[in-house]
Order: sequence, then structure tokens, then C-alpha cells
Amino acid sequence: MGKLMVLTVLVAALAVLIGERFFALRKTTLAYRELTQNHLPNCELIKGIEIGAEDITILEDGQAFISSGLKYPGLPRYTDAPGKIYVLNPSSGADPIELHIKGDFDTASFGPHGISVYTDEEDGSRYLFVVNHPHENSQVEIFQYVEEESTLVHMKTIKHELLHNVNDIVAVGVENFYATNDHYFTNEYLMPLEALLSLYWCNVVYYSPEAVHVVAGGLFSANGINISPDKKHLYVSDLMDHSIVVLNIQKDNTLSRVKKVAVGSLCDNIEVESKTGDLWMGCHPNGVKLLLNDPNDPPGSEVIRIQNIHSDEPVVTQVYSDNGSVLIGSSVATPYKGKLLIGSVYHKALICDLE
Ligand SMILES: *[C@@H]1O[C@H](CO)[C@@H](O)[C@H](O)[C@H]1NC(C)=O
Repeated sequence: MGKLMVLTVLVAALAVLIGERFFALRKTTLAYRELTQNHLPNCELIKGIEIGAEDITILEDGQAFISSGLKYPGLPRYTDAPGKIYVLNPSSGADPIELHIKGDFDTASFGPHGISVYTDEEDGSRYLFVVNHPHENSQVEIFQYVEEESTLVHMKTIKHELLHNVNDIVAVGVENFYATNDHYFTNEYLMPLEALLSLYWCNVVYYSPEAVHVVAGGLFSANGINISPDKKHLYVSDLMDHSIVVLNIQKDNTLSRVKKVAVGSLCDNIEVESKTGDLWMGCHPNGVKLLLNDPNDPPGSEVIRIQNIHSDEPVVTQVYSDNGSVLIGSSVATPYKGKLLIGSVYHKALICDLE
């Protein structure tokens, strides 16, 4: 072949490659997706939640913890105000209460992300685990919850090289947890390569004071994580793979992959209903809209439920959807006694009736 011919072939190949990657990226981000409204009855915005309710976790007694004020590089946010943790009881009709933070802790740079509660069976103490991003770092805070004083007492900050891009956690002991990393690279210029090249390089890390290990890998973008009521399985949302991955917890705390369930949306946090074992997810119907946050074409919201996830035929249902006129960027949903709480990455939170 002549030089010109080689050049033409190379340019053509490059154009095909770029085109192929462009379409793959549109597919990954569900950029084409438009929503039809699927509203629930009697939805009301939760008072006082204005800078997101990225994660919500609810206790058996109905107390829901809300993390508000995420600071996440690359995502839009409405304010630089310090993040906060609220408690709300959805059946009481009362407004959320902001928890005071005590102890040696920098509240000014608090940027709470995924949260999880662990109850010590010996003495009933409750610990709130919070993924925190102060100054764009990634670390996990452990607080003791003192209900009578509406206070979180800071106990410990955990940093580790394997906890480099933590998104969400699930606590399994007083100082033990599983955490997801939502990126492989920590360099912000390299991060976009993961989506661009469809790299399944994210993982799940097990942390205990004695040992820290990667316990599952091969995820495109590991996001929400939670545990089954019988504590035998973990569920991880692979956001960019549009699936929920089911993992078996082994005796040595490592994980083995059981299967994945397609959800057709970019699902964020996972909440597990204790009575039924159903999974509830706040999802992003369109990833491009979430990043652009155009007020004239806002990102929407979508709540998806999975029933019978361990059976051969899990049932995946869209429970709620909104085109962004009510709630922008839903990231979590949790049912409680006929109500549904829905939180968002950087917008508001809703409470609805589940009929
Ligand atoms: C969302 O849908 C409603 C109809 O339910 C419509 O009035 C509104 O303009 C739509 N908003 C956007 C941003 O598409």
C-alpha cells in the first residue's frame, strides 16, 4: 500500500472507533432516554431539605437518617454550605431534625455521601457510618448516635489507600464495613476514560481494623451497596452497567458473584425492605442530563423496586418517575409503613403515599 492509502485507512479506522465510542457512551449514559410521568399520590417536599438527600437509611423504629450536602467533584451543586445529617420519622408528620455533631470533627468541610447504621447487639448503641469528601478527599466517618440529645458524637475517621473513591458503605460491625469505589482512577483527567472506554475496573472493599481487602471487582461503576435481611448477600448497584449485582458473603468476608439483574436505569443507592427483602433504588433515568443540570431540560427522577431478587424471575418495577418538574436527580428511595421517601443528589426530598 502507498503511504496515502495507509493514512486513509488509519483515519477511517479512527473515525469508526470514535463513532463507535460515541454511540457506546450514549448507551452507557442512557442519553436518549425520555421519561413519562408516573407519579404517586400525596407527594410533598420535605421541609428544610434544599441541598440534596443523597442517601437515606431507615431504622426499624421509623427513624430515617438523611445525608444532605454532597460535595462530589464533577457534579453540579447548589451551594458550598457544609453538609448535614438529619433525622426524620415519616409516620410522625414532623419536620426533619438536624443532628448536632460533637467531638473533634471539621463540620465546615463536611460533605456526606453514602450512609449506613450499625446497631451493637450487646449494648444497643447505634453507630452512623458516613462516607465523607472533605476537600475532595475520600474517607469514612464513624459517629455514635445519641438519640436523646439528637447528637452524633464523632468516634473515628478512617482513611486507606484502597478507600480512594468511596461512594457508599454498608456497616457490618462496630468498625467493619463494605465500601464501593465508584472510580478506578483518582486523577480527575483520567477518570473520564473509564466511561469512554467502558472499563469494568471498579471494586468493593472490605474494611476491618485488622485487615483491608478488595473483595469484588469487575464493576463498571460501583455505586450503592446494601445487605440482605439475613446478612447472607450483598447487593451492589453497577450504575453504568444498568444492573444490580448480587454477591454471596463468604465466611472469610470475601464475596462471590451470584448474578446480576438488569434495571434499565442508572441506579444509585439501594435500600432493602427488612420485611420483604425487596430492593428499592433511586435511579438516574438520563446520565447526561444529570451532569448538565440544564434548568430548561432538567434531569428527572425514577424509583425502581426489585422483588424476589434471588428467584429465577426477579420482578423489576418502576414505582415512580418524574421529568424533573418535581424532583431532580433522585438517588435513593425507601419505603416505610405505606410511605415512600425519595431523596436526590443535589436537589430536594419527597415523601409520598404508596397507595
Ligand atoms: C413535565 O411534565 C409536565 C406534565 O406532567 C409538563 O407540564 C412539564 O412541562 C414537563 N417538564 C419538563 C421539564 O419536561
